[in-house]
Amino acid sequence: MKLAFIIDPIAKLNPGHDSTVAMMEAAQALGHEVWVTEVHQLSVIDGKAWAMLSQVQLVPVTLKDGKWTSVAQWYEICSQGLRCLEDMDAVLMRKDPPVTIRYLYATYILELVDPKKTLVINSPQGLREANEKMYTLQFYSVMPETIVSLDKTVIRKFVEEKKQAVLKPLGGKAGEGILFLEPSDRNFNSIIEVSTHQGQEPVMVQRFLPEAKNGDKRIILLDGKPIGAVNRVPTGQEFRGNMAVGGRVEKTELTPREHNICEVVGPRLRQNGLYFVGIDVIGGYLTEVNVTSPTGIREIDLLDNMNLGHIVIEWLNRVCSK
Ligand SMILES: Nc1ncnc2c1ncn2[C@@H]1O[C@H](COP(=O)(O)OP(=O)(O)O)[C@@H](O)[C@H]1O
Ligand SMILES: [Mg+2]
Repeated sequence: MKLAFIIDPIAKLNPGHDSTVAMMEAAQALGHEVWVTEVHQLSVIDGKAWAMLSQVQLVPVTLKDGKWTSVAQWYEICSQGLRCLEDMDAVLMRKDPPVTIRYLYATYILELVDPKKTLVINSPQGLREANEKMYTLQFYSVMPETIVSLDKTVIRKFVEEKKQAVLKPLGGKAGEGILFLEPSDRNFNSIIEVSTHQGQEPVMVQRFLPEAKNGDKRIILLDGKPIGAVNRVPTGQEFRGNMAVGGRVEKTELTPREHNICEVVGPRLRQNGLYFVGIDVIGGYLTEVNVTSPTGIREIDLLDNMNLGHIVIEWLNRVCSK
């Protein structure tokens, strides 16, 4: 297969941590061509999606002292050119959030790729449908009590009822802008003002789950089914478990309740063409559905001696050869 990955600048990727690199390595190891491009390198020409594509050759990470280790020059660009994306067998949209206007325009360009020729993952329409925080509300039966509002009075009433809450900007990732809220906080009003940009943008406010101290579980779903999971435990003074803010990773398994969450979420993900997704579960409650560029493969591979990249690429190969 020829696979195109739409990514952030390759030099900024972290080969030992990023799932995108794990998938690119797997593709290469299984004999496929790996091409990369960026959102700003997409164009529409004659009604088709084109991209400035660079073919890359990777030096795979190796395990050293219990860590994925890469060489300094871990990738090499072999050739480059403007090509129609339909020359590829699949396009993997793996640009990191935030979902900006430029990101949205990229999804409109990807919409022009003929699905009979080239599979786009995740589906551009699905990416627009699924704001990572708001989409979770479509599965409210498995979610902790949550509101979305920009109204100080509404937010205060909710936080007074729940006693403790977590505020989340709707476009954030990796723990950015996540705040702990208590009604007695002397900065309460200020926090809401700053977070809502003076009442201009709604935020999510969710009941604080004390179980978060035991971890925030990332479950990776492929084609609506769980293929692996890792627990992220907050460290030090931090209440957030994100790896980006120092969360410690821990081996884990799925509880029956978590299997049930996957069964609730899975069919809808497939319907929306969201084939590679990372859901976050705290204390048995769904808190986030990550669809843009979910991470976790490297950590799961390490802790569970797996190769999720291979599982993803082999699945892709089956789907593309149908
Ligand atoms: N309802 C909650 N109760 C307690 N902690 C939470 C809650 N929601 C999120 N957190 C903490 O905040 C972190 C980030 O939250 P999340 O909703 O996954 O947003 P993102 O990962 O996109 O920043 C989680 O890893 C978790 O540690
Ligand atoms: Mg998260």
